[in-house]
Amino acid sequence: MKEITQEQLSTLRPPAFPGSYFLSFEGIEGAGKSTQIIKLKTHLESLNFRVLVLREPGGTPFGERLRQAILETKNEITPLAEAYLFASSRAQLLNEVILKELAVPNTVVICDRYIDSSLVYQGHSRGLGLSHVLNIHSVFPLNIVPHLTFYLRINVETSEKRQKMRNAPKDYFESKGVEFYKKLVVGYDMVAELFPQRILKMNAEVTTDQMSMQICDAINQLIGLKKAVEKEENL
Ligand code: TYD
Repeated sequence: MKEITQEQLSTLRPPAFPGSYFLSFEGIEGAGKSTQIIKLKTHLESLNFRVLVLREPGGTPFGERLRQAILETKNEITPLAEAYLFASSRAQLLNEVILKELAVPNTVVICDRYIDSSLVYQGHSRGLGLSHVLNIHSVFPLNIVPHLTFYLRINVETSEKRQKMRNAPKDYFESKGVEFYKKLVVGYDMVAELFPQRILKMNAEVTTDQMSMQICDAINQLIGLKKAVEKEENL
């Protein structure tokens, strides 16, 4: 695998808007992202934040069309084309929504999937290489990363069990089978190690309430830390 350089990692940075937070959720199918996002939104609203939930790919009219193009395709797309399609949807979402919303103080933007999905799905599991995906994200605004990312970790067996219970039709990636899913878990672990400060790897094989409590604790801690830093910078 092509070596990842310090320069590639250091070009990635969180947005610098005082009082606002950019968060993302990651994990394989069935990890419980949607449920936890709703619970976190409620918690943040109780703290008087304005909360916006977005999903990737999608979140803009153009992004939703790309989402359809990718997830409903019956033909194999090359990993390179996949990576650029997802990055294209992300660039549009950043320009059209994320950066504008975060400029309003007291806002939290929560993204259901973001750059780590590209690193894991295209970079690792589809074999493009993490380095290549990082290169695509080296230019503004694609170099903007969340303040905190919740990686809800479950194993492949749990994912399969939860998918069977849902019994929903499978999209492009979901039809790729167990081996692909195993690679996703390895890929997420690699990416979590690459960004230990930003990515909070959480055992999601616990109850919904236990998971939610841990997420709220982490957020309360982040808010306290960021407020302290912003206060110091203003002194
Ligand atoms: P979605 O139905 O939103 O998946 P989930 O409910 O599991 O979050 O479909 C998004 C799919 O696209 C999902 O399989 C992950 C994949 N994906 C990538 O491969 N790369 C990316 O950069 C993103 C954002 C998503």
